[in-house]
Amino acid sequence: MDRPLAAAPTERVTVPPVVRALAGDDDVAPVWRNQLGGLTFRLTGAAGTRYVKHVAAGTPELDLDAEAERLAWASSHTAVPRVLGRGHDEGGSWLVTAALPGRSAVDPVWLARPETAARAIGAGLRALHDSLPVDECPFSWSAEERTARLDDAVRDQVGPVPAVDRLVVCHGDACAPNTLVADDGAPAGHVDLGTLGVGDRWADLAVASMSLGWNYPGDVEATFFAAYGVAPDPGRIAFYRNLWILG
Ligand SMILES: Nc1ncnc2c1ncn2[C@@H]1O[C@H](COP(=O)(O)OP(=O)(O)OP(=O)(O)O)[C@@H](O)[C@H]1O
Ligand SMILES: [Mg+2]
Repeated sequence: MDRPLAAAPTERVTVPPVVRALAGDDDVAPVWRNQLGGLTFRLTGAAGTRYVKHVAAGTPELDLDAEAERLAWASSHTAVPRVLGRGHDEGGSWLVTAALPGRSAVDPVWLARPETAARAIGAGLRALHDSLPVDECPFSWSAEERTARLDDAVRDQVGPVPAVDRLVVCHGDACAPNTLVADDGAPAGHVDLGTLGVGDRWADLAVASMSLGWNYPGDVEATFFAAYGVAPDPGRIAFYRNLWILG
Protein backbone atom coordinates (compact mmCIF):
# COMPACT_ATOMS: atom_id res chain seq x y z
CA MET A 1 0.00 0.00 0.00
CA ASP A 2 1.21 3.48 -0.77
CA ARG A 3 1.76 5.70 2.19
CA PRO A 4 2.01 9.47 1.75
CA LEU A 5 4.21 11.47 4.07
CA ALA A 6 2.29 14.36 5.58
CA ALA A 7 3.31 17.87 4.54
CA ALA A 8 5.05 18.09 7.89
CA PRO A 9 6.34 14.51 8.35
CA THR A 10 5.94 13.14 11.84
CA GLU A 11 8.95 10.93 11.29
CA ARG A 12 12.44 12.26 10.76
CA VAL A 13 13.64 12.04 7.19
CA THR A 14 17.35 12.18 6.55
CA VAL A 15 18.07 13.95 3.29
CA PRO A 16 20.78 11.99 1.42
CA PRO A 17 23.85 14.15 0.73
CA VAL A 18 23.42 13.84 -3.03
CA VAL A 19 19.86 15.20 -2.82
CA ARG A 20 21.15 18.14 -0.80
CA ALA A 21 23.85 18.71 -3.42
CA LEU A 22 21.39 18.45 -6.33
CA ALA A 23 19.14 20.99 -4.62
CA GLY A 24 21.78 23.72 -4.44
CA ASP A 25 19.91 26.73 -3.07
CA ASP A 26 16.48 25.18 -3.66
CA ASP A 27 14.19 24.17 -0.81
CA VAL A 28 14.03 20.44 -0.15
CA ALA A 29 10.86 18.75 1.09
CA PRO A 30 10.31 15.00 1.54
CA VAL A 31 6.99 14.09 -0.10
CA TRP A 32 6.88 10.31 -0.24
CA ARG A 33 8.34 7.16 1.25
CA ASN A 34 7.63 3.93 -0.64
CA GLN A 35 7.28 0.48 0.85
CA LEU A 36 10.93 -0.36 0.17
CA GLY A 37 12.15 2.78 1.90
CA GLY A 38 12.82 4.77 -1.29
CA LEU A 39 12.26 8.49 -0.78
CA THR A 40 10.97 11.19 -3.12
CA PHE A 41 11.90 14.82 -2.48
CA ARG A 42 10.48 17.99 -4.01
CA LEU A 43 13.09 20.65 -4.82
CA THR A 44 11.64 24.11 -5.20
CA GLY A 45 13.55 27.14 -6.39
CA ALA A 46 13.66 30.09 -8.74
CA ALA A 47 14.15 27.87 -11.79
CA GLY A 48 11.08 25.75 -11.03
CA THR A 49 10.19 22.55 -9.24
CA ARG A 50 11.92 19.19 -9.59
CA TYR A 51 11.42 15.82 -7.96
CA VAL A 52 14.21 13.48 -6.90
CA LYS A 53 13.50 9.82 -6.24
CA HIS A 54 16.31 8.33 -4.18
CA VAL A 55 16.84 4.64 -3.53
CA ALA A 56 19.44 3.64 -0.94
CA ALA A 57 22.21 1.25 -2.05
CA GLY A 58 21.19 -2.37 -1.66
CA THR A 59 17.46 -1.79 -2.15
CA PRO A 60 16.26 -4.45 -4.55
CA GLU A 61 13.39 -4.21 -7.03
CA LEU A 62 13.54 -0.49 -7.71
CA ASP A 63 15.24 -0.04 -11.06
CA LEU A 64 15.50 3.66 -11.78
CA ASP A 65 17.23 3.02 -15.13
CA ALA A 66 14.13 1.13 -16.25
CA GLU A 67 11.95 4.00 -15.10
CA ALA A 68 14.07 6.63 -16.86
CA GLU A 69 13.94 4.65 -20.14
CA ARG A 70 10.16 4.26 -19.94
CA LEU A 71 9.59 7.93 -19.10
CA ALA A 72 11.71 8.95 -22.08
CA TRP A 73 9.69 6.69 -24.39
CA ALA A 74 6.24 7.65 -23.04
CA SER A 75 6.84 11.38 -22.82
CA SER A 76 6.25 11.99 -26.53
CA HIS A 77 2.76 10.45 -26.27
CA THR A 78 1.31 11.46 -22.89
CA ALA A 79 1.85 13.59 -19.79
CA VAL A 80 4.65 12.01 -17.78
CA PRO A 81 7.62 13.67 -16.10
CA ARG A 82 10.60 14.73 -18.21
CA VAL A 83 13.82 13.13 -17.00
CA LEU A 84 16.37 15.75 -15.93
CA GLY A 85 19.05 13.53 -14.48
CA ARG A 86 20.06 10.13 -13.24
CA GLY A 87 22.97 8.86 -11.21
CA HIS A 88 24.35 6.70 -8.45
CA ASP A 89 27.02 6.80 -5.79
CA GLU A 90 27.99 4.67 -2.83
CA GLY A 91 24.85 5.81 -0.99
CA GLY A 92 22.34 4.82 -3.65
CA SER A 93 20.80 5.88 -6.93
CA TRP A 94 18.51 8.69 -7.98
CA LEU A 95 16.25 9.98 -10.69
CA VAL A 96 15.53 13.69 -11.18
CA THR A 97 12.36 14.71 -13.03
CA ALA A 98 10.66 17.98 -13.88
CA ALA A 99 7.46 18.61 -11.93
CA LEU A 100 4.19 17.86 -13.66
CA PRO A 101 1.30 20.16 -12.74
CA GLY A 102 -1.42 18.89 -10.43
CA ARG A 103 -1.42 17.06 -7.12
CA SER A 104 -1.25 13.35 -6.43
CA ALA A 105 -4.72 11.78 -6.29
CA VAL A 106 -3.99 11.00 -2.62
CA ASP A 107 -3.16 14.59 -1.69
CA PRO A 108 -5.41 15.64 1.26
CA VAL A 109 -7.38 17.85 -1.16
CA TRP A 110 -8.46 14.74 -3.12
CA LEU A 111 -8.73 12.38 -0.16
CA ALA A 112 -11.54 14.70 0.93
CA ARG A 113 -13.21 14.28 -2.51
CA PRO A 114 -13.05 10.54 -3.25
CA GLU A 115 -15.58 10.57 -6.10
CA THR A 116 -13.63 13.26 -7.97
CA ALA A 117 -10.37 11.41 -7.36
CA ALA A 118 -11.81 8.08 -8.58
CA ARG A 119 -13.18 9.78 -11.70
CA ALA A 120 -9.79 11.35 -12.44
CA ILE A 121 -7.96 8.04 -11.93
CA GLY A 122 -10.39 6.21 -14.24
CA ALA A 123 -10.37 8.88 -16.95
CA GLY A 124 -6.60 9.29 -16.61
CA LEU A 125 -5.97 5.57 -17.04
CA ARG A 126 -8.24 5.48 -20.10
CA ALA A 127 -6.38 8.43 -21.61
CA LEU A 128 -3.04 6.73 -20.94
CA HIS A 129 -4.18 3.46 -22.55
CA ASP A 130 -5.64 5.31 -25.54
CA SER A 131 -2.57 7.45 -26.16
CA LEU A 132 0.38 5.03 -25.87
CA PRO A 133 1.01 3.08 -29.10
CA VAL A 134 1.22 -0.68 -28.50
CA ASP A 135 2.98 -1.32 -31.82
CA GLU A 136 5.83 1.03 -30.99
CA CYS A 137 6.30 0.06 -27.34
CA PRO A 138 9.59 -1.75 -26.67
CA PHE A 139 8.56 -2.85 -23.15
CA SER A 140 6.45 -5.80 -22.04
CA TRP A 141 4.34 -6.36 -18.93
CA SER A 142 2.58 -9.48 -20.16
CA ALA A 143 0.92 -11.86 -17.74
CA GLU A 144 2.81 -14.76 -19.34
CA GLU A 145 6.20 -13.21 -18.59
CA ARG A 146 5.12 -12.16 -15.11
CA THR A 147 3.79 -15.59 -14.17
CA ALA A 148 6.86 -17.30 -15.68
CA ARG A 149 8.97 -15.54 -13.04
CA LEU A 150 6.92 -17.00 -10.15
CA ASP A 151 7.76 -20.10 -8.12
CA ASP A 152 5.69 -23.11 -9.20
CA ALA A 153 3.53 -23.07 -6.06
CA VAL A 154 2.73 -19.39 -6.41
CA ARG A 155 1.98 -19.80 -10.12
CA ASP A 156 -0.53 -22.54 -9.23
CA GLN A 157 -2.15 -20.22 -6.72
CA VAL A 158 -2.46 -17.41 -9.28
CA GLY A 159 -4.07 -19.77 -11.79
CA PRO A 160 -4.22 -19.73 -15.59
CA VAL A 161 -3.72 -16.47 -17.48
CA PRO A 162 -7.06 -15.27 -18.87
CA ALA A 163 -7.42 -14.48 -22.57
CA VAL A 164 -6.44 -10.92 -23.43
CA ASP A 165 -9.38 -8.52 -23.50
CA ARG A 166 -7.53 -5.55 -25.01
CA LEU A 167 -3.80 -5.17 -25.39
CA VAL A 168 -2.59 -1.72 -24.30
CA VAL A 169 0.57 -0.14 -22.97
CA CYS A 170 -0.07 -0.57 -19.25
CA HIS A 171 1.10 1.91 -16.63
CA GLY A 172 2.46 -0.98 -14.56
CA ASP A 173 1.67 0.54 -11.14
CA ALA A 174 -1.68 2.24 -11.58
CA CYS A 175 -2.25 2.67 -7.82
CA ALA A 176 -4.10 5.86 -6.91
CA PRO A 177 -1.08 7.97 -5.83
CA ASN A 178 0.49 7.67 -9.29
CA THR A 179 -2.21 9.74 -11.01
CA LEU A 180 -1.83 13.51 -10.77
CA VAL A 181 -5.04 15.53 -10.67
CA ALA A 182 -5.47 19.16 -11.82
CA ASP A 183 -7.28 21.73 -9.68
CA ASP A 184 -10.45 21.29 -11.73
CA GLY A 185 -10.49 17.53 -11.02
CA ALA A 186 -9.27 16.47 -14.47
CA PRO A 187 -6.39 13.97 -14.76
CA ALA A 188 -3.10 15.86 -15.21
CA GLY A 189 -0.60 13.04 -15.80
CA HIS A 190 1.06 9.95 -14.43
CA VAL A 191 4.22 9.21 -12.46
CA ASP A 192 6.05 6.06 -11.40
CA LEU A 193 6.36 4.22 -14.71
CA GLY A 194 9.17 1.81 -13.87
CA THR A 195 7.22 -1.24 -15.07
CA LEU A 196 5.29 0.31 -17.98
CA GLY A 197 4.79 -2.23 -20.74
CA VAL A 198 2.41 -3.98 -23.09
CA GLY A 199 -0.22 -6.12 -21.39
CA ASP A 200 -3.95 -6.65 -21.03
CA ARG A 201 -5.69 -3.49 -19.83
CA TRP A 202 -7.11 -5.50 -16.91
CA ALA A 203 -3.62 -5.71 -15.40
CA ASP A 204 -3.92 -1.97 -14.70
CA LEU A 205 -7.68 -1.85 -14.15
CA ALA A 206 -7.55 -4.55 -11.45
CA VAL A 207 -4.79 -2.84 -9.47
CA ALA A 208 -6.07 0.72 -9.86
CA SER A 209 -9.53 -0.26 -8.65
CA MET A 210 -8.10 -2.30 -5.76
CA SER A 211 -6.00 0.64 -4.60
CA LEU A 212 -9.06 2.87 -4.27
CA GLY A 213 -10.10 0.92 -1.17
CA TRP A 214 -6.64 1.45 0.36
CA ASN A 215 -6.78 5.18 -0.04
CA TYR A 216 -10.37 6.50 0.05
CA PRO A 217 -13.30 6.10 2.42
CA GLY A 218 -16.44 4.48 0.99
CA ASP A 219 -16.65 2.48 -2.23
CA VAL A 220 -15.75 4.48 -5.32
CA GLU A 221 -14.97 1.56 -7.65
CA ALA A 222 -18.14 2.04 -9.71
CA THR A 223 -17.16 5.68 -10.32
CA PHE A 224 -13.69 4.58 -11.41
CA PHE A 225 -14.97 1.98 -13.91
CA ALA A 226 -17.59 4.37 -15.30
CA ALA A 227 -14.93 7.05 -15.83
CA TYR A 228 -12.69 4.54 -17.62
CA GLY A 229 -15.66 3.39 -19.66
CA VAL A 230 -15.79 -0.34 -18.97
CA ALA A 231 -17.93 -2.73 -16.93
CA PRO A 232 -16.02 -4.66 -14.22
CA ASP A 233 -14.81 -8.10 -15.35
CA PRO A 234 -14.73 -10.17 -12.14
CA GLY A 235 -12.61 -13.03 -13.53
CA ARG A 236 -9.83 -10.87 -14.94
CA ILE A 237 -9.95 -8.58 -11.91
CA ALA A 238 -9.44 -11.52 -9.54
CA PHE A 239 -6.57 -12.93 -11.61
CA TYR A 240 -4.66 -9.66 -11.95
CA ARG A 241 -5.15 -8.66 -8.31
CA ASN A 242 -3.80 -12.04 -7.24
CA LEU A 243 -0.86 -11.71 -9.58
CA TRP A 244 -0.13 -8.23 -8.18
CA ILE A 245 -0.30 -9.38 -4.56
CA LEU A 246 1.56 -12.67 -4.98
CA GLY A 247 3.92 -11.67 -7.80
N1 LIG B 1 7.78 14.78 -11.74
C1 LIG B 1 6.83 14.81 -10.79
N2 LIG B 1 5.86 15.74 -10.81
C2 LIG B 1 4.91 15.82 -9.84
N3 LIG B 1 4.87 14.96 -8.78
C3 LIG B 1 5.80 13.99 -8.69
C4 LIG B 1 6.82 13.86 -9.69
N4 LIG B 1 7.62 12.82 -9.34
C5 LIG B 1 7.11 12.34 -8.18
N5 LIG B 1 6.03 13.04 -7.79
C6 LIG B 1 5.26 12.87 -6.54
O1 LIG B 1 6.01 12.03 -5.68
C7 LIG B 1 5.29 10.83 -5.38
C8 LIG B 1 6.25 9.68 -5.34
O2 LIG B 1 6.83 9.48 -6.64
P1 LIG B 1 6.83 8.00 -7.25
O3 LIG B 1 5.45 7.50 -7.32
O4 LIG B 1 7.62 8.03 -8.51
O5 LIG B 1 7.66 7.24 -6.12
P2 LIG B 1 7.66 5.71 -5.69
O6 LIG B 1 8.52 5.64 -4.50
O7 LIG B 1 8.05 4.86 -6.85
O8 LIG B 1 6.13 5.43 -5.34
P3 LIG B 1 5.42 4.05 -4.90
O9 LIG B 1 5.21 4.12 -3.43
O10 LIG B 1 4.11 4.12 -5.65
O11 LIG B 1 6.29 2.91 -5.35
C9 LIG B 1 4.21 10.73 -6.47
O12 LIG B 1 3.05 10.04 -6.01
C10 LIG B 1 3.91 12.20 -6.78
O13 LIG B 1 2.99 12.71 -5.85
MG1 LIG C 1 4.29 5.97 -6.75
